[in-house]
Amino acid sequence: MKSLVTGVAGFIGSHLAEKLLALDHEVVGIDSFLDNYPRPFKEKNLSNVLHHRKFSFLHQDLLGLDLQPLLDDISYVFHLAAQPGVRSSWGEEFARYSENNIRATQMLLEAGKGSKLRKFVYASSSSVYGDTDDLPMREEGGTRPVSPYGVTKLAAEHLAYLYWKAFGVPAVSLRFFTVYGPRQRPDMFFHIFMRALHRGEEVPLFDDGEQTRDFTFCSDIVDGILKAAFYPGAGEVFNLGGGSETSLLQAIALVEKISGRKANLKRCDRQSGDVRHTRARLEEARSKLGYSPQIGLEEGLAREWEWITTVAY
Ligand code: NAD
Ligand code: UGA
Repeated sequence: MKSLVTGVAGFIGSHLAEKLLALDHEVVGIDSFLDNYPRPFKEKNLSNVLHHRKFSFLHQDLLGLDLQPLLDDISYVFHLAAQPGVRSSWGEEFARYSENNIRATQMLLEAGKGSKLRKFVYASSSSVYGDTDDLPMREEGGTRPVSPYGVTKLAAEHLAYLYWKAFGVPAVSLRFFTVYGPRQRPDMFFHIFMRALHRGEEVPLFDDGEQTRDFTFCSDIVDGILKAAFYPGAGEVFNLGGGSETSLLQAIALVEKISGRKANLKRCDRQSGDVRHTRARLEEARSKLGYSPQIGLEEGLAREWEWITTVAY
């Protein structure tokens, strides 16, 4: 079985590639080493798979590739490549978001027309929901993103659905909820926070710290992605969350307990693009995919802390 993983040098893509190889898939991975964060992190992410006999790496930009021949003998596409991050998606930066998130997805879907793909899994985001009182967030509920990034992820979801409806590309979209764990992107909160704690530095805390997230451990996301790939349906959308709702201050207290250190918080204003609360309704993913998150927040944070203090720096 041959799979294509786009964004393979990223946080989630690299974990997925490792799991696919462990399941004896042949894996083609593509990544452009986009400069959303330093390339050495991405090279380190790839280090466990790069020399695996069933892995081949294409250092390429999806936007500049003839994608159709690439899909010739591929059974599963896992499309994770994107310019991520909600707060940095305003202004001039939006061009990067629209190209890498919308245009690249449309090109890959176009290439999937008439292919023998068994599944095209698209990595969507909880950011498509925006701010809502209708919690937990339901797949069939309203979508009104509050960041330009969320708009691009929602647009690409619509494209995935369209290419399924019009051309039978077997696409499914998965809305990931704030993913964390070893290799988390250096622009994400737990990474910033743990690095600062490790170095005895100040941590910027946006808003009042009472904002909540349904934090999801990376191995649970990988499990959900695989379950969606092997599920017979298509044209659908599923939430993948961690199964709880935790405020930033609660999470900070957990990390203080794990590390035995005291955070030095610098209060900052709420940032444009940030959602106040996220919580995933998981019934659809549980009943149709058999998804069931396994890693509780304290255990997951302990694993990320270990990574930050022993591997990342
Ligand atoms: P990441 O930045 O670590 O990984 C994305 C990778 O895609 C990067 O290595 C980048 O170089 C690559 N890439 C971007 N544009 C490309 C292009 N045009 N061609 C080839 N490669 C390209 O991000 P991540 O956190 O691992 O996120 C993976 C996916 O999951 C993204 O689609 C993101 O929107 C989605 N997502 C992530 C989270 C989260 O909490 N991390 C939550 C919701 C959704
Ligand atoms: C994360 C990812 O970054 C997005 O790519 C993804 O699409 C989104 O999850 C999702 O679930 O869809 P976010 O929830 O903003 O976005 O995750 P973090 O960047 O880790 O931020 C979490 C919280 O920490 C936010 O409330 C943010 O304001 C806060 N934060 C972040 C700080 O207080 N200080 C910082 O320095 C950074």
